[in-house]
Amino acid sequence: MKATAIAHPNIALAKYWGKRPGSARLPAVPSLSVTLAGMQTKTTVEFSRALSSDELLLDGERKSGRELARVVELLDCVRAEAGLSSFARVESTNDFPTASGLASSASAFAALAVAARAAAGLKRDLPLESDLARRISISSARSIFGGYVELGLQPVASRLAASPVAEPDHIDLRVIVAVVREGAKDVSSTEGMLRTMASSPFYDAWVQAAPRIFERVRAAIVSRDVAALGAASEHSALAMHATMVAADPALVYWTGATVDALAAVRDARASGVVAYATIDAGPHVKVLTTSTHESRVAAIMGAVPGVKRVIAARPGEGARLEPRERGAP
Ligand code: PMV
Repeated sequence: MKATAIAHPNIALAKYWGKRPGSARLPAVPSLSVTLAGMQTKTTVEFSRALSSDELLLDGERKSGRELARVVELLDCVRAEAGLSSFARVESTNDFPTASGLASSASAFAALAVAARAAAGLKRDLPLESDLARRISISSARSIFGGYVELGLQPVASRLAASPVAEPDHIDLRVIVAVVREGAKDVSSTEGMLRTMASSPFYDAWVQAAPRIFERVRAAIVSRDVAALGAASEHSALAMHATMVAADPALVYWTGATVDALAAVRDARASGVVAYATIDAGPHVKVLTTSTHESRVAAIMGAVPGVKRVIAARPGEGARLEPRERGAP
């Protein structure tokens, strides 16, 4: 009744921001992401009759409150599916900053979905794992799969799962993450979305425009056009942030270093370097480039004042189970 899974974060190239009114966790717009190798969440789940409640250890720290509540929500779904009644101990570690706009919730709930179902004795089933993860954190539905992954809008038989669009090596793409702050962000994406939906005068325009941007991103991936993919991805991110900034009170995830990093990306591009920016609900700038330009982009971003460090990532695999240790029950 114990299993360990590893999942990677994903970055959305076509962003989702906003949920369908009246729905628990259905996105208002379609999204398309790339799953990244180079950063990971490792999660172990053990169901045990000896426990009197579910327990969560995140990076060695015992958690309660909202973080535990979301984990319990997922465990409840698994218990219902497997016909289990015992509680679980969940131990999770990230090798990158948690809750800071590096999509840690995506890898966290993808790893948890895979580990929890396996620990409950359920067979691997990627669409079911993706649907399960999506019920807790929409973006995590995409981290079940590797490479380029889309998440549409229409549930089928009350399930909405992501699906793969292309293999990790389909395009020569590299991602340089410019980390501008360590530590958690001030406003969670759940809260930020609610505020944007309730108060941004641009929200309806975003919901109308996002499917067209999604189609541009998708077509660029299918045709392996890095320049078109970069341009459409940058547009998606900036249109999403413009919508958030217009919320009341404004939702500004950026710092001064974010703006400097964006300017460095534009300057690099003007001088012939392949570099396009994307930013999630946090201050970090993720630069899309190619293998040829990767080290140049890392040097440029590392030299931006306020950039603490850079992480080099590339398209990677989906969530996987760790093989059982020898001798383990
Ligand atoms: O599903 P959440 O709460 O992790 O929201 C993530 C939203 C963005 O990262 C900003 C965009 C996206 O599509 O991943």
